Amino acid sequence: MNSIADSIYVSEEPVDKSWIVDQQLVAELNLSLYQLKIKNDCSESLALSQLDQLFESLIAQVETPMENRFVSDIHEFCRARLKEELRFKQKLSPDQFRCWTNERIAYVAILDPLYVSLLKFLTVFKRKHLEQRARQGLQKRTDLTVDSGITIFLSSIVLEFAMRNAGVLERLKLSFSNDLKVIGAALELSVSGSTWWRSSSKEFGGINTDYAHFDEAIESPKAIVYLSHVGSESGPTEFYPGLFESLGLTPLQELVSRVIGRVDNNRRRVFCKESQYSEIPSHAKDFRSLLFRLPAELRFISHFGWDVPESHKLESEFISKKNTVLGGPGTALIFDGGRVVHRGGLIRTGERAVFQVVFGHNRSRFFRSVLFRLRRK
Ligand SMILES: [Fe+2]
Repeated sequence: MNSIADSIYVSEEPVDKSWIVDQQLVAELNLSLYQLKIKNDCSESLALSQLDQLFESLIAQVETPMENRFVSDIHEFCRARLKEELRFKQKLSPDQFRCWTNERIAYVAILDPLYVSLLKFLTVFKRKHLEQRARQGLQKRTDLTVDSGITIFLSSIVLEFAMRNAGVLERLKLSFSNDLKVIGAALELSVSGSTWWRSSSKEFGGINTDYAHFDEAIESPKAIVYLSHVGSESGPTEFYPGLFESLGLTPLQELVSRVIGRVDNNRRRVFCKESQYSEIPSHAKDFRSLLFRLPAELRFISHFGWDVPESHKLESEFISKKNTVLGGPGTALIFDGGRVVHRGGLIRTGERAVFQVVFGHNRSRFFRSVLFRLRRK
């Protein structure tokens, strides 16, 4: 184990407190997951049974109900995520699968001003509402986001027309499915004075890596659409081509990294006592302790930017690979958020209004899925 990924989450706990895994089983599971990743026609049953075997061996070592819950949740979510990823890949044609495997979409499109004006008109009252909340001191990310209701529903229709008009859906079709639609949208306001994105630890994170992450789902490309002018100080979206690959994650680490944030979110009251609350989920003390009981072979978090030590070699990768999206209303970054590391909304001065857009298949699930999908941003 000597990848960049392994050098970030080095144990904060005595090594003998980590649970132990059978190295042979880990190697076999990684091989199965790798074969599923590069082929489009593999059976999933072998990987699932190896996954079950691995987690059963961890469960046999837990000592408290909290540890049991933690391991069981990761197991359950890993199973679900793996099945979801396989369903997605099976729907791709051979050409799409080849393209999806080899490419990482991340490019800037400019939406037609007519659609942008319509979006600004539709959202004028919601933006005023969010600005009022910000003035009242409500500055957490969730305080300044609207992701449901009639405004969002109508905006998602306009966004879909705008994306089609700009050729975005046609471009996404090459690597994803034929009938992608806008299935989720969230209006987000970022304001100066907000601190949710800063590292809660003096040792970790920093201006070059805070909040950098990859999204948990691989099957839902995204877009960030600016509704205001966004300059270098007003929280521009940044993306880092090739950085995901530089991490050198094993397939098992990648799978766990995509679900472990949900474990924490779903069980916050269990894993994070009130006195230990941290605005950054992965820095909650109880959660942290459990994270380091996981063997290194399973240890990584999709939202890892907060955990990169300053001057770490990975920080240099961030600096050299950084692309910044600057522009006016209608500027849109279209990207494969599950495999392109990114961040945005880290405001220093001014404010930023954007739509975060999720592409997918089933619009009938819109109201049910949007919250879930956007929470995984
Ligand atoms: Fe994201």
